[in-house]
This record gives sequence, C-alpha cells and structure tokens, in this order.
Amino acid sequence: MASHESRVTSHESRVTNEESRVASHESQDPRPETRDPRQGFFVTGTDTGVGKTVVACALLKAFAARGLRAIGMKPVASGAEPAAHGLIHDDVERLIAASNLAAPREHVNPYCFLPPIAPHIAARQAGVTIDLERIERSFRALAARADVVIVEGAGGFRVPLGPATDTAQLAARLALPVVLVVGMRLGCLNHALLTAEAIAARGLKLAGWIANYIDPQMMAAGDNVRALEERITAPLLARIAFASTPDLVAIAATLNIGKLL
Ligand SMILES: Nc1ncnc2c1ncn2[C@@H]1O[C@H](COP(=O)(O)OP(=O)(O)OP(=O)(O)O)[C@@H](O)[C@H]1O
Ligand SMILES: [Mg+2]
Repeated sequence: MASHESRVTSHESRVTNEESRVASHESQDPRPETRDPRQGFFVTGTDTGVGKTVVACALLKAFAARGLRAIGMKPVASGAEPAAHGLIHDDVERLIAASNLAAPREHVNPYCFLPPIAPHIAARQAGVTIDLERIERSFRALAARADVVIVEGAGGFRVPLGPATDTAQLAARLALPVVLVVGMRLGCLNHALLTAEAIAARGLKLAGWIANYIDPQMMAAGDNVRALEERITAPLLARIAFASTPDLVAIAATLNIGKLL
C-alpha cells in the first residue's frame, strides 16, 4: 500500500517551493472578475458524496443538448484505482463519458491520487504540490476547445489542497461562477448557507443551486428546500429526486440552465 500511496499519474511532477510562491501570489490577487459564464462553471457541494458528479454530468448533457461543446474537468481527484496505464478515477471517467468533446486526460484531471483521503494529505504522501497555476493552464487549454467547461471541485468548498491552498482558492483562481449542489439531508441548511457565504466572500458569483434528494428518508425535505430558497438569492436550478440509478439525460432535462446563460 505504501508504494501505491505514493503513486500519482505519470504526468505529475514534483514542484519545489511552489507552495509558498502560490500562497503569496494568492494573497496578492485582487478579487477576481467572475469569468464569462459561457466559459464554464465550478460545481461545488455541501459535502463530499452529495451529487456533484451527477450534477456536473447532467450540466454537460444539458449544454450539449443546446448544441454547445461541453467538457468536464476534475482538477484534483483522490480515491483512484490502479490501472495498466496509470490511475483511473470514477469521477473522471464519468465526466469524460458525459462530455461531447475529447481532451487530453492531463488537462481533464491534472492531479490524481490513489488513497481515498483528503487531497492535501494524499498529495503530501505522494510528495506532490498541487499547483493552482498548472490547473489554470489546463482549464485554459480545455476552454480553448470547448464552449463550456464544467469543473468539479473535490469535496466541499473549503477542502484544503495544500498547506496554503484550498478549493475555494482554486474556484477564485479560475474565476468561475459557482453551482452549489445541496445534498438534502439533516444538516444541509447550515452547510448550504455557510458555503453560499464562503463563495460570496471570495467575490465569486453563486450562479445557482440544486436540491439533490440523496436521502429518501429525510423528513420535511420540501420545507428545507423552501428555507434555502428564502435565504439564497441565487436561483434554484432543479430539484433532483432520489433515484437508485440517477438518469443523467432526465436530470439534464430538468435543469434550468436558461438561468445560467
Ligand atoms: N438524486 C440521487 N438519488 C440517488 N442517488 C444519488 C443521487 N444523486 C447522487 N446519488 C448517488 O450518490 C453517490 C454520490 O454522488 P456523486 O458521486 O455525484 O457525489 P459527489 O459529490 O460527486 O462525490 P465526491 O465528493 O466523491 O466527488 C453516487 O453513488 C450517486 O449515484
Ligand atoms: Mg464527484
């Protein structure tokens, strides 16, 4: 396992002293102008496992149905599986399958780690520094060939990516409008409202949010959605029903992407 834990994709290289350089660069950055929404969206969630990939894939399908070239990106992934030619990560495979445009895998997924642990710990174990500048370069390469790039974050909005970097900084670096997936379960109101605050605090636009009914046992789910509608000014793009196998095309049809364009 120890040797596996230090494996990263072949296109990964060690970057020395990058952390402090990125940290100082980040702190000097002015508040970002949110990028033209046609270039992409950053999909975040109230937690890990709340349906970000499902929503990101449905967004890709919805934009493709409008005739746009749509491509998914997962900048940082942990919890991969070893394969003959490197590592395979389920989210990356799902995003590639839902995209209507092919792209080099090193741009779709610049950082991939084997252990299913927090990315900054996986990166540290692998001796890798997650470099936001490199991720931005990959994003630009994807944006150059697509009409819309759907970027899926790792876990929730403040998940660390290194000693001085986190997912929120990545979203700010890419300057993308954010789509928030709320996993409807007890505790989601607090998580959703804190995330909305954190997005606003970075000068980013919350373009919309999605109520994903991941817990079929949740009581008063509708009241919870209404509580969020009353407190989040961004539009509710869809309510996604619980389904044992989420149907991406059906979900795409319910997404109100007119509010995003
Ligand atoms: N509406 C739903 N009904 C039932 N199951 C769902 C629903 N939405 C998502 N799921 C399931 O929940 C699991 C987590 O979803 P998904 O992988 O999209 O979450 P995620 O936020 O991308 O997770 P991660 O943080 O690992 O990237 C998957 O097995 C998915 O099929
Ligand atoms: Mg995911």
